[in-house]
Amino acid sequence: MNISTNENNPNTLKLIIAAKFAQQAITIKTVQPKASFLGYLPSIEFPSGLILFSTNAAMQFIIPSSEEFKVVNNKWLEWEISQLQPAIALYGSTGIYKTSQKSCLWSLLKELNNALKDKQYLIKDNIDLSLADICIWVTLWSTIMVTEIGNELNKEYLSIKNWLSNIELLTVIQDSIKEYSFERGLKAILSIQAASWFPVNATLNSKPSKPADLSPTKEKEIEAVSQEEIWNISNNWSSKSYPDVKNFPYPVLPKKGEKNILITSALPYVNNVPHLGNIIGCVLSADIFARYCRQRNYNTLFISGTDEYGTATEAKALEEKTTPQNICNKFFDIHNDVYRWFNIGFDYFGRTTTPEQTEIVQSFFLKIKSEGYILNESVDQLLCEFCDRFLADRFVEGTCPRCKYEDARGDQCDGCGHLVNATDLISPRCKVCGNRPIVKKSQQFFLDLPKLENKLKEWSSTVEKGWSSVARVVAKPWLRDGLKPRCITRDLKWGIPVPIEGFENKVFYVWFDAPFGYISITKKYTKEYQQWWKPKDIQVDLYQFMAKDNVPFHAIMFPAYLLAANEDYTLLKHLMATEYLNYEDTKFSKSRGIGVFGTDARDTGIPADVWRFYLAYVRPETQDSNFNWADLATKNNSELLNNFGNFVNRALVFVEKYFESKIPAIELQEDDLVLLALAQRELSSYIHALEQAKLRDGLKHVLAISKHGNQYMQFQEPWVKIKGIDNDKRRAGTIIGICCNLACLLSSLLAPFMPCTARELRSQLGLQTNNYGYIPDDITSILPTGHKIGKPSPLFKKIEEKDVETLRKKYAGKQDTTNSDEHGDVKSLDSAIAELDTKVKELKAKHDKSGWPSKQVQIFVDLKNKLSDLISEKNKSSELKSKNPENFVPEQNGDISMDVASLEAAITKQGSLVRQLKAKEEKSVWQPEVEKLLKLKKQLADLTGTTPAPTDKKSKKKK
Ligand code: MF3
Ligand code: ZN
Repeated sequence: MNISTNENNPNTLKLIIAAKFAQQAITIKTVQPKASFLGYLPSIEFPSGLILFSTNAAMQFIIPSSEEFKVVNNKWLEWEISQLQPAIALYGSTGIYKTSQKSCLWSLLKELNNALKDKQYLIKDNIDLSLADICIWVTLWSTIMVTEIGNELNKEYLSIKNWLSNIELLTVIQDSIKEYSFERGLKAILSIQAASWFPVNATLNSKPSKPADLSPTKEKEIEAVSQEEIWNISNNWSSKSYPDVKNFPYPVLPKKGEKNILITSALPYVNNVPHLGNIIGCVLSADIFARYCRQRNYNTLFISGTDEYGTATEAKALEEKTTPQNICNKFFDIHNDVYRWFNIGFDYFGRTTTPEQTEIVQSFFLKIKSEGYILNESVDQLLCEFCDRFLADRFVEGTCPRCKYEDARGDQCDGCGHLVNATDLISPRCKVCGNRPIVKKSQQFFLDLPKLENKLKEWSSTVEKGWSSVARVVAKPWLRDGLKPRCITRDLKWGIPVPIEGFENKVFYVWFDAPFGYISITKKYTKEYQQWWKPKDIQVDLYQFMAKDNVPFHAIMFPAYLLAANEDYTLLKHLMATEYLNYEDTKFSKSRGIGVFGTDARDTGIPADVWRFYLAYVRPETQDSNFNWADLATKNNSELLNNFGNFVNRALVFVEKYFESKIPAIELQEDDLVLLALAQRELSSYIHALEQAKLRDGLKHVLAISKHGNQYMQFQEPWVKIKGIDNDKRRAGTIIGICCNLACLLSSLLAPFMPCTARELRSQLGLQTNNYGYIPDDITSILPTGHKIGKPSPLFKKIEEKDVETLRKKYAGKQDTTNSDEHGDVKSLDSAIAELDTKVKELKAKHDKSGWPSKQVQIFVDLKNKLSDLISEKNKSSELKSKNPENFVPEQNGDISMDVASLEAAITKQGSLVRQLKAKEEKSVWQPEVEKLLKLKKQLADLTGTTPAPTDKKSKKKK
């Protein structure tokens, strides 16, 4: 293998290490960076003649990772090359990091540190460690570890520190370092920067070296694009026609022999304003995909709406002291407005409290019953005598019977992801009053899932390949572990009535009625809705978008309902589930004012399109991901402004200035074909990604095209050629003509993600703006010679660091001064606490708990809730002020003077800390916090003279 590298490039060390592991001989040749517009180094030539420019891809070639680890390995390799290296390279421009850049790097390091906790290597692959370990190690070791950042890292991130030094000790590593000696630190960073594709000033101020000194490398680089690719490009360029986008009539209906795509996004509950994570999880992802499908001329129907029944609504109505229907109306409007602002192009956005929904749900139920899939059983229900009501699932908590997670909800356990029956919970407690509910009998209907199991299995095996990985992971254990009958009715008032004599006072369980919303909402859109849902002889592909907690209901329950009806309904084909989006490394929280919610987004002054872009860029496709303000600004400024915007603007301005706004004649030469072939690769990858709704990947391929374009322009220097002799002038015309054509292609490819920007660009290109342009399989000439363009102007605005800082502060959580109207200032809070506390003590002194009259219980409950709310608000404020918010633990050690109220608040607080930690961290991390929680509980018990509520830890041991 022959490696060509610029001087001092750490990426070359990666190749050397890999070659050593694979025991392959290599030669190293030093060449100039930016030797051509491709300019990526190191490049590696294999004995077969294949040349690769992507170090990480070459690594895979030298040591293929084992099947088992391929996916994770690739994920980390991609992370290293597309996130870590660019973040580090920013440093090279100045030798220091700006705050925003540092926080971006820091959040990446945190992610790595978490992944390395208690592990020797990131991934233990067939060479003991993995390619991902090698690549990340090389990058860190050779760059920032010898800067002042390295010292900070050693202090902050122990897992990384240990991992770094362990790897350094390996013989292979030591040998490789000896073989390729180079200077670590700034010089290494500059070297990476000089030969990589990411836009660190690269497109703006770096002057490429002259063509004269590049002959040897240039030939090889051109070979990197195969003759076949070149041939295809030149063949397609002027011979293939570029189709128009269809004008879809209303209503859109599926057609025989065509692609018919039915898209849904999970119907949001009406108890909350959606936050950025909810938005990218469902409606935005579905919208990007739907727009893509329309631009491919597929018959596309995209519907969604609000999920209005269920206890979530009832709870909200209780909280706001109004009727459930009022809550629905209010939140329907909120959701509708938010989505409209984000430019979500539903064909119809409906709701579930409609006569159509009631009719469809009831008749489905009767049909399923007549097919013999409904059981009728008397069941034990939880009744809270203190609150005098049957407890809906979400009003019960307890220990999961499966995994023993202590805070499982009555419907689902966040510990193991399984659905649970509320009555199976170990030590159940009423969420309102904390008391243990009693069990009472009541007749209910069940769906006979065991009887449907074979049908489900058969269907699932034919479709699950088209599911996102998290969807498969969540759904698999279900069918594997066997299904149980599931109760689909409830003793509640808010819901769709069960149409059976003797059941008049019961309603359907919300997860029975809600999925039928997809069908009833389609019926609202068109009376021909059956053509989509019960097509005859027509193939309809159903794509459903949702967050991962919705997977069981769409992978098992809804298909089970439809299969049970036995009428050939359209079943889910592609289940597109996302993981969760965090906000600045913590969770979104409406009540604590943390994070950006739908209604906030428009107040930031950042355009909807930029939100859409960034959310797609960080879409939690394969793992939880993170929203980060600094990163948003960086991506806006580097990717949109410097890369994409810069490319299209330069091309258009050039045409305006030198060619009277008319596309010049194009005579393709080899360099142009290479550029087009590279763009073609990206286009093909874009389509491949989007066909599977891998939106994040798709977006990166769009940006890669403009990167190629920028480098091409930089190398070709049309601004020099235009001043030359006739031949040169014509050449400048070709170059710019090609760039404008690419800009046109880019406007179509970007449109699903950024529709307004795409429309603006299309108008600048002098195109009609009643559609976004067809997304073709092959690159062809779209803009003919002589086509007149419109008026160019910049598409994007810089986001300044100071603005980002202001916004970050604004959404970092409530400050005690900013909301004094709502919660009172600290002083009055203190006296309120004292007052409430006395009342609680009085109450407790007068009555023993079991003897309390229910009204007083209610007062007590209200007081207590209010109190702990106030206290957690207050703690939150001081938490904000303290330096390390995550580690906030209420002071309690040895503090025997704490009163009941403070202890209760501390327990609540500590409990939620434990819950959070358990969800994310290893036992070693949460165990000490559990101990603290137990101690607090004990203190409270001592103080009130009761036995401590059995901690689940103990009850576990008893069994
Ligand atoms: N309302 C549910 C949630 O927000 C989702 C329901 S999706 C449905 O989690 F289609 F089944 F309605
Ligand atoms: Zn209760």
